[in-house]
Amino acid sequence: MSEIDWDVLRGAARDAMKRAYIPYSKFPVGAAALVSDGRVVTGCNVENASYGLGLCAECSVVSALYGPDADLSGDRPRLIAISVVDRHGEPLMPCGRCRQLLWEHGTPDTLLESVSGIRPLSAILPDAFGPDDLITRS
Ligand code: THU
Repeated sequence: MSEIDWDVLRGAARDAMKRAYIPYSKFPVGAAALVSDGRVVTGCNVENASYGLGLCAECSVVSALYGPDADLSGDRPRLIAISVVDRHGEPLMPCGRCRQLLWEHGTPDTLLESVSGIRPLSAILPDAFGPDDLITRS
C-alpha cells in the first residue's frame, strides 16, 4: 500500500496525543494506525496509580482494532501503517512490549514511521517471536 498518507496518520496521532491521561509521567504519547479494513484507529497512553499498569498509546490502538466499529465477520483486522508521536508531534519509537503487540496485530511488512524513517516491523523487531512459533515449536 504505497499510497499511505503519513501526514494524515501523523496528524491523527498528534490529536490522540492531546487526550493522554498522564498524571504520573507527564509524558504524552499518541498513536494512529491505518487498518486493513480502511479504518484509522488511534490511541493515547492512559496511566494508573499502580504505575506498572499504565497503558501505552499502542495498547489503545490495538484495543481499538477490535472496537464496535470493527467488522469481525471476515479476516481479522491488521495494522498496515503506524505513527507514534511524542509531545512535540515527532516520531517516538514503540517500547519493547509494544513492538510485540504491534507484531501480533500487524504483518512483517507493516510500516512504522520511525525516528530513522519509514521502516517495516520486521526491522523494528528482528527475529521476532510470534504466533507461528507456538505451532512450529510445540
Ligand atoms: N509510552 C507509550 O505510550 N508508548 C511507548 O511506546 C513508550 C512509552 C508511555 C508509557 C508512559 O505512560 C509514558 O509513555 C512514559 O513512559
